[in-house]
Amino acid sequence: MKGVILAGGLGTRLFPLTRVTNKHLLPIYNKPMIFYPIQALVNAGIQDILIVTGGASAGDFLKLLRNGTDFGLKRLNYAYQEGEGGIADALALAGHFAEGEKICVILGDNIIEKNIAVHVAEFEKQKEGARILLKKVPDPQRFGVPVFNGNKIVKIEEKPKDPKSDFAVIGIYMYDSKVFDIISGLSPSDRGELEITDVNNKYIEWGNLSWGEITGWWTDAGTFDSLLSAGSLVAKTGANMTD
Ligand code: DAU
Repeated sequence: MKGVILAGGLGTRLFPLTRVTNKHLLPIYNKPMIFYPIQALVNAGIQDILIVTGGASAGDFLKLLRNGTDFGLKRLNYAYQEGEGGIADALALAGHFAEGEKICVILGDNIIEKNIAVHVAEFEKQKEGARILLKKVPDPQRFGVPVFNGNKIVKIEEKPKDPKSDFAVIGIYMYDSKVFDIISGLSPSDRGELEITDVNNKYIEWGNLSWGEITGWWTDAGTFDSLLSAGSLVAKTGANMTD
């Protein structure tokens, strides 16, 4: 399986921290944010990785990461997202890289404590479709939230005012190659973005979206509070993602 890290967007929720740099270059305790999703993929056994970024400091990713030797990689691949068209718009740039293979996508501001190798292995076994990962959270209205019928997800609602479960869809998604056809048929949402939740809802419609619940803590780092708490979690318990 190949890996895709989405590290574009303007990070406006973190202004003025992101006025002169990209959100994913900001520190989380002792490392730049982008190090964590790269390590998460590498620890899950994924070696072929594309980083999608954008904005004025895109070149700084090359200076920082070079060919990925800090992570034991031989090379890294890069793509540039024009503007801020949404998560699914950034993912569309991975079509050539994926070359028909399954992909594991991780949002550049998502940080996890434990290894996701078991979930990647589950998806390797899945014939087709997609797999999403969930975590129970106290504030589901900030995220994509699954609606269940028994054990089955019947819909995902993006940032619902009245969440139907206390799970968040975390920013780690596994897809077959149909994902790129789905994205090309999407229209922008009310916030003007191509939404990853619309992609996942299409797989639900097709009846081939599976899900798993991750162990260990998970956080995003896209707001002042979550950036602070991500740093504290890493400082307190580490995020070595090895077990
Ligand atoms: O963190 C998990 C949540 O991420 C999910 O529960 C939501 O369903 C999903 O929509 C997303 O929500 P956010 O609104 O928090 O996403 P945000 O706009 O902060 O973008 C998250 C990452 O995606 C960001 O760190 C970089 C990447 N991204 C985002 C946009 C808008 C891009 O690469 N390009 C973009 O244009």
